[in-house]
Amino acid sequence: MQIKVKDKFFVPYLSKEQIEKSVNAIAIQINQDYKDEEVIFIGVLNGVFMFASDLLKNIKLDCKICFTKVSSYQGTQSTGKVKNLIGINEDLKGKNVIILEDIVDTGLTMRHVRKQILDLEPKSLEIAALIFKPESFKEEYNVKYRGFDTPNDFIVGYGLDYDGYAREYPDIYILKND
Ligand code: IMP
Ligand code: MG
Repeated sequence: MQIKVKDKFFVPYLSKEQIEKSVNAIAIQINQDYKDEEVIFIGVLNGVFMFASDLLKNIKLDCKICFTKVSSYQGTQSTGKVKNLIGINEDLKGKNVIILEDIVDTGLTMRHVRKQILDLEPKSLEIAALIFKPESFKEEYNVKYRGFDTPNDFIVGYGLDYDGYAREYPDIYILKND
């Protein structure tokens, strides 16, 4: 069933069952890769809240989670500028850090978050993103843990928003082209 969000229509794209499977697979991978190690997860608000919550329920490691907030999007277009709204207060020196993002699109937001974290001298740094848009990504760094690679279309639901709306849907929807 299509949904209407403000002035746009979206159609079903990824079901909550597909998302759950994918999030569990990422958790299993992280549990294996960091066996007997401690991890600090840093979630990028707001979009990551559902992904972070479901992922962390399946993590079997000594871990902490904290959040940072940056802003770059207005409507469905990137403004190209990243603003820091909530910074990182955690001591990351010598720690294994994994950044959690709902979606990595051009990679500009992640470049900014990554740089701030690298300045705090972690022992290791990786990225876990539920959605990755390979056609749009223009950066040098690696996004190691990925749920889904998607085409360049705008999607909402499971934390992802259109102007702040539609984050509450358990499934993911894609913009209807007409
Ligand atoms: P980037 O800086 O271009 O990689 O954009 C990353 C941020 O833009 C993400 O944290 C999302 O909040 C937002 N974003 C990018 N693509 C979409 C989309 O298709 N739907 C909703 N939000 C998106
Ligand atoms: Mg986001």
